[in-house]
Amino acid sequence: MTQVQSGILLEHCRFAIFMEATVQGEFADLRQGCKQFCQTLTELQQQFPDAHLGAVIAFGYDVWHDLSSGQGAKELKPFTPLGKGLAPATQRDLLIHIQSLRHDVNFSLAQAALAAFGNAIKIEEETHGFRWVEERDLSGFIDGTENPQGDQRPEVAVIAEGEEDAGGSYVLVQRYEHNLRQWQRFTTEQQEQIIGRTKHDSEELPSDQRPETSHVSRVDLKEDGKGLKILRQSLPYGTASGKHGLYFIAYCARLHNIEKQLLSMFGELDGKRDAMLRFSRAVTGSYYFAPSLTRLLSL
Ligand code: HEM
Ligand code: MG
Repeated sequence: MTQVQSGILLEHCRFAIFMEATVQGEFADLRQGCKQFCQTLTELQQQFPDAHLGAVIAFGYDVWHDLSSGQGAKELKPFTPLGKGLAPATQRDLLIHIQSLRHDVNFSLAQAALAAFGNAIKIEEETHGFRWVEERDLSGFIDGTENPQGDQRPEVAVIAEGEEDAGGSYVLVQRYEHNLRQWQRFTTEQQEQIIGRTKHDSEELPSDQRPETSHVSRVDLKEDGKGLKILRQSLPYGTASGKHGLYFIAYCARLHNIEKQLLSMFGELDGKRDAMLRFSRAVTGSYYFAPSLTRLLSL
């Protein structure tokens, strides 16, 4: 059995640390860093079993291409801007995603990551996410209602056993900054029309009772009669007085599903944009590939 990286499928985590880096050192140091990181991860998992600690290391196109000698992750490509720049591209080389029930344990692993990779990487973005009340986004809407559950999670997020890249996963990260003052100017009913679900109970509005530009209408897509599913592990982040929003992260066995939803949100399919972009804007955007743990350790 190919082992999946431990941070991909976890459920109901309370905290996360997201680090995006450029690679500047030797590939040998990068490979060594991956091994050392996985070693410390295992130690912390044993030391703090109650934390349900998991992590993912994923690579951008350029680095993956060199590290893997061009083997696998056929769908991977650099992120490019969408919606006339409304979704900017800030593609980096390496993503480290740490999540668990404990911020203190996450922080220890993040420190271990810096020690493991040393000068081989330069951190360009570090964001600390937290689960807000009732698993709500800072907009007040429950985030994750239609996320795949149980057995569906690996089916959606991880490349199946027997296929090339088995146990691997494509990743999108996009940090969004919310303008909550602007958001609060909308009535609850207007907000529900923007999201496409009710605010209190997260009931989906029937498709004829929500605009085509509602978030749900933009991303709940079908292709040949089949739903295009992704697994989201996003969390709110930021400071109350400063910048805050959603650190969006999605895993999928196919980059295609994620990309199609993005194109739909940013007006690249039918010219219509997601109404949510009226109060939240994307400030980063990168695609990565997370190989199976087995592959990661043998790169
Ligand atoms: C659903 C919030 C960005 C894909 C939802 C829901 C909320 C939400 C409140 C409804 C509850 C749920 O099913 O989880 C946000 C916010 C975003 C954001 C605040 C950024 C500011 C994105 C992006 C994508 C995406 C960038 C894809 C590239 C989805 C999907 C669903 C969903 C697939 C479930 C749709 C369904 O099957 O009904 N989002 N989202 N979201 N979102 Fe987002
Ligand atoms: Mg739905």
